[in-house]
Amino acid sequence: MKSRWLRVLIVAVFVAVLLFALGPWMVSAWWRHRSANPVRRGVQLARELGCFSCHGDLGRAGIADPGHEEKGVPGWGGGVWMMYVANDEEVKRYILDGSPQDHAPAQTAAHEHAEHMEMPAYRDHVSGTDLDDLVAAFKVLSGMRKPPGGSPARKGYDLSRQWDCFSCHGPAGSGGLPNPGSFTGFVPGWYGADFSEMVQSRAEFDAWIHEGSIARLRDHFMASRYLESQRLSMPAYEQMTPAQLDELWAYTQWLQETDGGYQGEATPW
Ligand code: HEC
Ligand code: HEC
Repeated sequence: MKSRWLRVLIVAVFVAVLLFALGPWMVSAWWRHRSANPVRRGVQLARELGCFSCHGDLGRAGIADPGHEEKGVPGWGGGVWMMYVANDEEVKRYILDGSPQDHAPAQTAAHEHAEHMEMPAYRDHVSGTDLDDLVAAFKVLSGMRKPPGGSPARKGYDLSRQWDCFSCHGPAGSGGLPNPGSFTGFVPGWYGADFSEMVQSRAEFDAWIHEGSIARLRDHFMASRYLESQRLSMPAYEQMTPAQLDELWAYTQWLQETDGGYQGEATPW
């Protein structure tokens, strides 16, 4: 009898030690999983595959073509993509097969852009949801998808770029940038599980931006500790006007509706 209880005790202690050691890791892995989204995954994948080595960090500006200063690998922004790709299928074709070899008239201008550089084919390295994630990231980074011109949501998007919110919150609020010492280990996004957890009302949204935190977390015995220990914290933008808060809010609502802005066909502006 005694030895049985001893065994139970040993197992219980073992499990407790294991949970204590792995707990924080398990919590952050779980958070990472539940708040993942295609844009965030696609950006990560593009980093791993080396896309940004040619197209510039986050597709901002491609590398030069020596001797042809005005040319080079196209960045993903600035509307250059419009010459090459019109829809999801064409983006996929570029990724799978690389530079078009047939030089169809529509692609001639694109190809001339980077005479000494070819887009490699990734068919053997990318498939299924990975391909969809890359397309989602490309559409968002290239500005192929943003709220309709003139709408309050579009003003919120422009404001977010102007104030550099995305440098912490990820491209188009996709979240996930590392934040050591925070509860989840990363900066939360503006849609999906992150957002519904952190922003439970319009009043909380306004407080985040005006005060840089919310009372619900400041008053919580655990959360308040993380607020202090995290390396990046949300700046307080007291100067944001009520009209600007409305626009930022409208933008986050647009992100919820379009699942991060990558759904649907390209929207010419
Ligand atoms: C070796 C350099 C290089 C790498 C690495 C590279 N590309 Fe490209 N990419 C190019 C060049 C050059 C072009 C345009 C040339 C052409 O049309 O022939 C291009 C064009 C494209 C286009 C078409 C439109 C546009 O605006 O850029 C897409 C989409 C694209 N690349 C996505 C990707 C993705 C996604 C990855 C990573 C999986 C990637 N590229 C990796 C060089 C590269
Ligand atoms: C220096 C990095 C940084 C910048 C710049 C920044 N934020 Fe934040 N933001 C954070 C962090 C970190 C949190 C989470 C804070 C926490 O857990 O205490 C946060 C939280 C938020 C939240 C609530 C949680 C969520 O789902 O994202 C909103 C909304 C928000 N920020 C909006 C903005 C807006 C709008 C701007 C630009 C005007 C902006 N942030 C700029 C770091 C930043």
